[in-house]
Order: sequence, then structure tokens, then C-alpha cells
Amino acid sequence: MKTDVTLYNGNLMPAVGLGTFRIEDNDLAAETVKTALDVGYRHIDTAYIYGNEEGVGRGIKESSVAREEIFLTTKIWNEDLRAGSARIKEACKEALKRLDTDYVDLLLVHWPTGDYKEYWKAFEEMQNEGLTRNIGVSNFTMRMLDDLLPVCEIKPVINQVELHPMLTQKPLLKYCDKREIALTAWSGFMVGELLKNGQILKLAEKYGKSAAQIILRWNYQNGVINIPKSVHRERMEENINIFDFSIDSDDLTIIDSFDQNKRSGPNPENFDF
Ligand SMILES: NC(=O)c1ccc[n+]([C@@H]2O[C@H](COP(=O)([O-])OP(=O)(O)OC[C@H]3O[C@@H](n4cnc5c(N)ncnc54)[C@H](OP(=O)(O)O)[C@@H]3O)[C@@H](O)[C@H]2O)c1
Repeated sequence: MKTDVTLYNGNLMPAVGLGTFRIEDNDLAAETVKTALDVGYRHIDTAYIYGNEEGVGRGIKESSVAREEIFLTTKIWNEDLRAGSARIKEACKEALKRLDTDYVDLLLVHWPTGDYKEYWKAFEEMQNEGLTRNIGVSNFTMRMLDDLLPVCEIKPVINQVELHPMLTQKPLLKYCDKREIALTAWSGFMVGELLKNGQILKLAEKYGKSAAQIILRWNYQNGVINIPKSVHRERMEENINIFDFSIDSDDLTIIDSFDQNKRSGPNPENFDF
């Protein structure tokens, strides 16, 4: 059973991770991460702006899983990105301190802001210095990648974007596939809203799975990495158990057809934070 995605540099990344946005309480973050690791998750997604890096780090330390077995992602926040390379490196070291670890597995530019063509070099240096095993971006459009890729010595392994059946991102997926950049889907359930969608529930019934599992499996079969967030053990179990069934290609096409280019979060072309 293949549950990892191989990145273009040969590194592995678990195809399902735990999202941690809106878990602001560090004690809850620690408990949630411990539960997820116990359930079998080996991939945790956090960010400075979620305010829970300290709790995530504590959860990892207090779990019975070795740090080397866990794929840990964090992200550099916009203010730090706009402040440029020196501040970005400081921010990364501060994040490692809060996470109580020597390295992260993936460090992301959280939003396309500031002079990313300039500070991407700092991300490359942080990878070369061993502060992170991989570097990537988040919320980058094709236009922005067209801008960034020519200056990269190490190109991003990942672009983490809002992606779900109402925003399938097919052109971006095709563009990134061609350049061997993997996509990670954020708000894959539109923060829960899609789990009540009648058409998805109908497919869930057909496969004897939950709506969440249908969406996660659809992403997995498209090569997209999932990071569903839940603080509940049963839901975490449900969300990671997507490797024992397969959605027919006709049904994958039906899910693709739900696309309305509808976002639940900000548009990377015009955000103001
Ligand atoms: N890069 C970016 O700019 C960016 C932006 C947003 C998010 N993210 C990342 O992406 C992750 C996922 O996105 P998200 O947190 O916005 O939303 P999401 O994963 O689409 O949805 C989370 C919501 O769905 C509920 N839920 C989870 N599994 C469920 C299940 N099996 N059945 C029923 N309800 C379920 C959760 O509730 P409970 O917790 O109560 O179970 C929560 O309310 C974030 O946590 C974060 O790590 C990144």
C-alpha cells in the first residue's frame, strides 16, 4: 500500500497529514498531535500564524513516535517575508525553537508577498544549511511560479493551495505536474461545508465511505496531498483511512465537474494581509 508521495528530489511525503489551522490553544494542539500520531499520522502541517507551533512541538516530543519518522511542515508568515532574507532566516530559527526541533521537513512561503524572487535564495540556503529538508511555496498561481521558477537553483517541491471539488485547480495541477511540483490541498472540505454536499454524499453511499473519504481519495488519485484538520480521534481515523478503496475514473470525472472556481479563503491575486 503506497501512502507516501515521492517529491521530485526523491524525498517522501505522507499523502495524508494533519492540518492544525484554528487550533490556537497550545495544550489542545499538543493533545491533538499526540492523538494523530497515535492514530498513525506521520505528517503534521502548522504555521507561525496558527499560534500553535509550541504545542505541535510538545505533542511530537510527548508522543511515542520518533522525530525522524514525522514529516513536519511550517510556514514563514507574510510580515517576515516582506522584511526580507535576514528576517526570514531568524523567523525560521525561532520556529524551530518553538517546535523544539533542529529541522523541519518542509518550509513554505506562506503567501506570495514581498520580493519572493529575491528571498527565495534564503530558502535555498536554509535547505543547504539543514534547517529544512525541503522548501516550497503556498498560494502561488501559475503567473507567480512563472516569475519565480527561472531564478530557482532549488525549485519548490510543493505548492500548497486551496483545492476541493468546488475549486479543482485543474490548470494549476497540470502546470505543476509538468514541472514536478506536487500540490497540497488546503481547506479540502471547505472547512466542513462540502461534507454536507448532496452529490458527494451520493458518491459516499455508492462506495460505502464517508463524504470526507471520497474527497480525500479523489485528491489522492489525482496525486494531490491532503492535510485535513480535525481535533477528533474518530474523524482523524476516518480521514487517514483512504487507502483501501478506489474511485472509478467516471466518478473522478463527475467530482471534477463540480468545479465552480469557488474559494472559501482569500484569492492569492488580491489579498491584503
Ligand atoms: N497554506 C495556507 O494558506 C492554508 C490556509 C488554510 C489552511 N491551511 C492548512 O490546511 C489545513 C486544512 O484546512 P482547514 O483547516 O481550513 O479545513 P478542512 O480540513 O477543510 O476542514 C476542517 C473542518 O472539517 C471538520 N472535519 C474534519 N474531518 C471531518 C470529518 N471526517 N467529518 C466531519 N467533519 C470533519 C473539522 O472539525 P473538527 O476539528 O471539529 O473535527 C473542521 O471544522 C489547515 O488546518 C492548515 O493546516 C493552509
